[in-house]
Amino acid sequence: MRTHKCGELNTQQLGETVSICGWVHRRRDHGGVIFIDLRDRAGLVQVVVDPDVAETFATAESVRSEYVLQITGLVRDRPAGTINANMHSGAIEILAKNIVVLNESETPPFPVESEIEVNEELRLRYRYIDLRRTEMQEKMKVRRDVTRVLRNFLDDHEFFEIETPYLTKATPEGARDYIVPSRTHENSFFALPQSPQLYKQILMVAGMDRYYQVVRCFRDEDLRADRQPEFTQLDIETSFMDEHEIMHVMEEMIRQLFIKVIGVNLGDKFPCITHQEAISRYGIDRPDLRIPLELVDIAEDMKDVDFQVFSAPANDPKGRVVAMRVPNGGELSRKDIDALTKYVSIYGARGLAYIKVNDLAAGVDGLQSPIVKFAPAEVWDSVLAKTSAQNGDLIFFGADKASIVNEAMGALRVKLGHGLNLLEGEWKPVWVVDFPMFEWDEKTNRYNAIHHPFTAPSCSVEELVANPGAALSRAYDLVLNGTEVGGGSIRINRSAMQQTVLEILGIGEDEAREKFGFLLDALKYGAPPHGGLAFGLDRLVMLMTGSTSIRDVIAFPKTQSAACPLVSAPAVVTDEQLKELGIRLIKPAGKEKAKYD
Ligand code: AMO
Ligand code: AMP
Repeated sequence: MRTHKCGELNTQQLGETVSICGWVHRRRDHGGVIFIDLRDRAGLVQVVVDPDVAETFATAESVRSEYVLQITGLVRDRPAGTINANMHSGAIEILAKNIVVLNESETPPFPVESEIEVNEELRLRYRYIDLRRTEMQEKMKVRRDVTRVLRNFLDDHEFFEIETPYLTKATPEGARDYIVPSRTHENSFFALPQSPQLYKQILMVAGMDRYYQVVRCFRDEDLRADRQPEFTQLDIETSFMDEHEIMHVMEEMIRQLFIKVIGVNLGDKFPCITHQEAISRYGIDRPDLRIPLELVDIAEDMKDVDFQVFSAPANDPKGRVVAMRVPNGGELSRKDIDALTKYVSIYGARGLAYIKVNDLAAGVDGLQSPIVKFAPAEVWDSVLAKTSAQNGDLIFFGADKASIVNEAMGALRVKLGHGLNLLEGEWKPVWVVDFPMFEWDEKTNRYNAIHHPFTAPSCSVEELVANPGAALSRAYDLVLNGTEVGGGSIRINRSAMQQTVLEILGIGEDEAREKFGFLLDALKYGAPPHGGLAFGLDRLVMLMTGSTSIRDVIAFPKTQSAACPLVSAPAVVTDEQLKELGIRLIKPAGKEKAKYD
């Protein structure tokens, strides 16, 4: 139907008669001459329709925005003064000879423009219009480029792409499962995979050596700007490689990805920090290293001060007291500080003490703060020295249970970093390693796995049993600009160790057999040492396209409430379907109106 794409035409085709197909982006009537900007995936081209071609002109008069046209015409220079240097086809135009209306269009619910102010639900409901916008087309293109580069890299490195089932059994990755009732097995359900974790490990036992898959994962969890209930992983597993070898190859893959797709060099060697260092310096296990602010421990200084707010956590083994210096933060007003105090309260902080450093030479008199009076000068001297404070700086303090201080001050660090434009550099990747194996859950009084229960500890079974809380794992996360883009580990490849870890997690022998018997069995048949990781593909594309929401890089994402406004899913099903499945609803179907009806 076409000889060229609209957006790829330029002076090379001058004098040629071409046929193009696309959507009417804009139609302008200029006193007798009609201009149509025709758009396809490649971009726009300007078409001119003269009244002397009567039939064609009549057709042009009838077309409206988003009509689909086939236009045949002559490529010619634009008249001097009308050249648009910002457009690939901006030096030429097409003099229309013939226009065929391939389809009409109703007036779209919002314009197909880059800058639109439309609520997201409307965009998702009319996603086929939304995706026509150049911005969205470009994001989909980056996504295509990303998977292509990743696949090429992995193919070159002898990885096999192998598909694993979607109808399967629960894989614990910390979220709720999406479950699917089975018609053929009464009272039984499949679970959609939270990840292909166990299948990929079994592929290693099966001798597949190097596996990858661009794979959908399903997790019923609270949604955020960087989380979707179904999302795509680049999932990877290898045999006979240790964590250093795996991280090395993966780092090379991500480096090439950024160079090839967006021309960004992420640097020669990604820095690597321990989990403990990340928490201690940044309050979080996925630090944004572009932000030059750090938490500094000052509990030692605060043990004997006359200020309970500081001295109590300073003397509590589970407490933490930190200072964070903000260069030139003295400019923050009382109102700003009040707003920040309110902000940290979201994370449970009961206040946000601060000191303005007006004049270091004047000692305590040069400090402005409601809390200076609570401690002797030596204490403040020590704090100023530890934070390397300068005149004009502001120091914030956090004191509470360590978990609250880490969350609140970690979040404050990010907020100030962005709010005060402190970001240094554009791209800061970092590996985070040496995670603890377990964390103690106060509510349920038991250990939870920090990664997943198949992650290998870096100690022996005996050491693990003796002190589970102190054990570190052989896990690694890749963090980019404060977003966890990938994570993985060396796995347990011996049945005894796997059983021990499950026991520590409070999963008894019977439950372990019922849930993971297949894995425990497989580990007995010559399971090689293996490990891998998974990247959040959507998150990578989100960062690479500078998008603020993960939904913008997924063609058909779910809303914040995990629904699809385009097809109105989830939806009620018929009574017959339920009957076939042996399911009776507590609230009869139809009583509740579907959200997008
Ligand atoms: P993990 O749970 O860390 O590891 O997931 C790997 C990566 O997937 C991305 N991700 C998500 N992206 C969008 N929406 C979500 N709801 C979501 N959840 C996770 C993140 C994350 O780093 N089986 C292990 C990997 C392994 O050990 O090999 C796993 O799934 O970018
Ligand atoms: P108060 O004596 O309660 O008025 O507190 C004095 C200062 O300490 C105020 O600036 C509070 O915001 C701050 N503050 C109170 N609790 C904490 C806390 N847990 N961590 C940090 N600062 C706090």
